[in-house]
Amino acid sequence: MRNSNRQWVLRQRPEGDISDGDLELVDAPKPEAGDGEILIRTIYLSLDPTNRIWMSDMDQYMPPVEIGDVMRGGTLGVVEQSNLDGFDVGDIVVPGLGGWQDYTVSDGTGVSKIPAGLGIPLDAFMSVLGATGMTAYFGLLEIGQPKAGETVVVSAAAGAVGSTVGQIAKIKGCRVVGIAGSDEKCKWVVDDLGFDACINYKKENVLEALRRECPNGIDVNFENVGGEILDAVLTLINDNARIPLCGLISTYNAEGDVPGPYMFRNILMKRARVEGFIIIDFLERFAEGQAEMGQWLAEGKLKYRTDIVDGLETAPKALDRLFTGENIGKLLVRVSDEPAA
Ligand SMILES: NC(=O)c1ccc[n+]([C@@H]2O[C@H](COP(=O)([O-])OP(=O)(O)OC[C@H]3O[C@@H](n4cnc5c(N)ncnc54)[C@H](OP(=O)(O)O)[C@@H]3O)[C@@H](O)[C@H]2O)c1
Repeated sequence: MRNSNRQWVLRQRPEGDISDGDLELVDAPKPEAGDGEILIRTIYLSLDPTNRIWMSDMDQYMPPVEIGDVMRGGTLGVVEQSNLDGFDVGDIVVPGLGGWQDYTVSDGTGVSKIPAGLGIPLDAFMSVLGATGMTAYFGLLEIGQPKAGETVVVSAAAGAVGSTVGQIAKIKGCRVVGIAGSDEKCKWVVDDLGFDACINYKKENVLEALRRECPNGIDVNFENVGGEILDAVLTLINDNARIPLCGLISTYNAEGDVPGPYMFRNILMKRARVEGFIIIDFLERFAEGQAEMGQWLAEGKLKYRTDIVDGLETAPKALDRLFTGENIGKLLVRVSDEPAA
C-alpha cells in the first residue's frame, strides 16, 4: 500500500505536442477520508484526446485545468476508507473525474458503484461501458440516426470510440467503412469487428478509396478526426446525410487557427445535418446505453479492446500514443492492481 499520493500537476500550457516540463509528477501526502467522505485508490486512469484540450486555455466545454492543478482525468478505483453511508471498503467505484493521481477523496457526488458479481472485466467500465462507449452509442444512434442499408463512415476507426461506433452500425444493419492509420488496425476492425471495409489513410488516397468502398455514397459520417479526412468524406455525402461531430483530433495539437473544411458547401447542397455533441450532455441516460451495450456484449455482438500502459508515471508519454496513433482500442493507465477476486 502506497503511503504518498503521486500527482501529475500542470506546470505550463503545452505548445503543439505535449513536452517535458508541461506536467510535473509530485509526491503529496496520502489523503484521509473525513466525515461523510470516501478515500478511493485509483486502479485505472483513462487517457483521452480531450486531455490535451483541457491543458490548453482555448474556449472549451469545461473550464481548462489551471496551472498548478492536478491534471483532470476519468478514473476507476477501489474504496480504501469509508465514512460515507452506502459505500464500503472494497467497493469498486467510478468517481467521475478523479484526476491523474493515486488517491481521490470524495463526498460521493457523482460517484457510481460497479455492482459486484457481474462477471464483466473492470476495464470494460473504462471503455465500452464507460464514457467512450456511451459516446459511440448516443452519438451514433441519437445524432447519426442510422437506418438499415445505409452507409456509415467512421474515422479513427480502430480507436476507443470509432471501433464501437462501427460495431453498433453493423448491429443496426448498415454498411460500415472505417478509416484508420495502419494495416493492422484495418485488419482488426474488418476481420474481428465485422466492418465491411477499412481505408488506411496513410497508404491510400482517402477520396478515391471512399469512392470504391461507398458506391452508394455516405449517409452517416461519425467524425472523430477533421481535416483532410473530413473533406474527403464531405465530398461523397448523400442528400440528408447526418454527421455526428464527435471530435477533431487532427487539430488538437495545432498551434493557431486551423482552416475549416473546404467542402463545407456540400452541407448546403446535400441538405446535410452536422451536430456537435459532448457526451456529458447524455450523463443522465448512461444507464439506458449501458443496459443495451451490456446486452450486446453478453451476446457476443460487441467486442472491445483496451490498450493498457502500466504506471502513473508513464501517463504523459502514454497520452502521446493517441496522437501518434500507437493505441488500438481504449487507452488506459493501470495505476494500481485490481483487488484480488
Ligand atoms: N464529443 C465527445 O464527448 C467525445 C468523447 C470521447 C471522445 N471524443 C473524440 O473522439 C475521437 C476519438 O477519441 P478516442 O478516445 O476514441 O481516441 P482513439 O480513437 O482511441 O485514439 C485517437 C486516434 O486518433 C487517430 N489520430 C490521431 N491523430 C490523427 C490525425 N492527425 N489524423 C487522423 N487520425 C488521427 C489515431 O488513430 P490512427 O492510427 O487511425 O490515426 C489515434 O489512435 C477524438 O477526436 C476525441 O476527442 C469525443
